[in-house]
Amino acid sequence: MAGEDLCSISDLSSSEVRALLKIGHDVKRNPRDYRHALDAKQMVLMFEKASLRTRLSFETGINTMGGNAIFVDQTNSPLGERESIADVAKNVERWVDVIVLRTYAHDTITEMAANSRVPVINALSDFEHPCQALADFLTLQEHFGTVNGLNLTYVGDGNNVCHSLMLTGAQLGANVTVATPRGYSPDIEIVTKARELAEVNGCEIKLLQDPHAAVEGADAIYTDVCVSMGMEHESTKRAPIFRPFQVNETLMSEAPSHAVFMHCLPAHRNAEVSDVVLDGPQSIVFDQAENRMHAQKALLLLLLGGLPNVTKFSGQ
Ligand code: CP
Ligand code: NVA
Repeated sequence: MAGEDLCSISDLSSSEVRALLKIGHDVKRNPRDYRHALDAKQMVLMFEKASLRTRLSFETGINTMGGNAIFVDQTNSPLGERESIADVAKNVERWVDVIVLRTYAHDTITEMAANSRVPVINALSDFEHPCQALADFLTLQEHFGTVNGLNLTYVGDGNNVCHSLMLTGAQLGANVTVATPRGYSPDIEIVTKARELAEVNGCEIKLLQDPHAAVEGADAIYTDVCVSMGMEHESTKRAPIFRPFQVNETLMSEAPSHAVFMHCLPAHRNAEVSDVVLDGPQSIVFDQAENRMHAQKALLLLLLGGLPNVTKFSGQ
């Protein structure tokens, strides 16, 4: 994977996703082994949208491996406005080893990747959030031992987070059930791709409109905001449509008692999830947040060719 981009989870093969997660577990267990793995490597983060977890987990991640992070706030100056994305890429690649982008348009990321000789990482676009899904499946592996055959139910908006979860689950042999209000289902291109991958990896991708049916047999129940960044103008319209999809005690009680609750955060408390569930014993949301750093360290190691001992991970 050295030198490659991560615009979408579908840029990775199933064995690359597995290898990445394996490295993520090792990085988490043995951080000292990687203390100098990316010595002097330079990473730029160019973000058009707000961030807490993604920014800090990338910055701490590279700093703890000897590299350096430079943050460029693009919230008031969208990429491509002052100069073309291609020209930005052709400058930035001269100074840094990896470009991490958080954008509105997914095309901004693919265009940067097409024009850059250094790897480009999608740190969230309107279409996908691959780094989130990698950390989430690392968290599920940690909790359940394996994700093969696991039942993950996503309840809410068929958005960027939902897309990346479907693709990652399909790559790893996990069954992903998505329950959305009518008109808010995931993008058909992602559904088709995820179903193709699921077929190969022996799992299923299901789309429903009933959250109660969707949580039956679920090992993990995941939700996200119903109004993503950039969609704020739809808040009033969406609130009543998504109310029946709130993850609360009643919905959790319809799932097996071992089911965990997941959320990428930030959460809109008592909107898509009740406080009782978010703060309750089944919630693993802060493990997910922590694992953002470990998963992204693994990703940086693979894309920047910084693995100290590659043989340790061969054979998976
Ligand atoms: N989950 C996530 O990406 O959080 P931030 O928006 O705070 O980076
Ligand atoms: N779907 C949310 C995720 C935030 C991490 C958004 O795009 O705003």
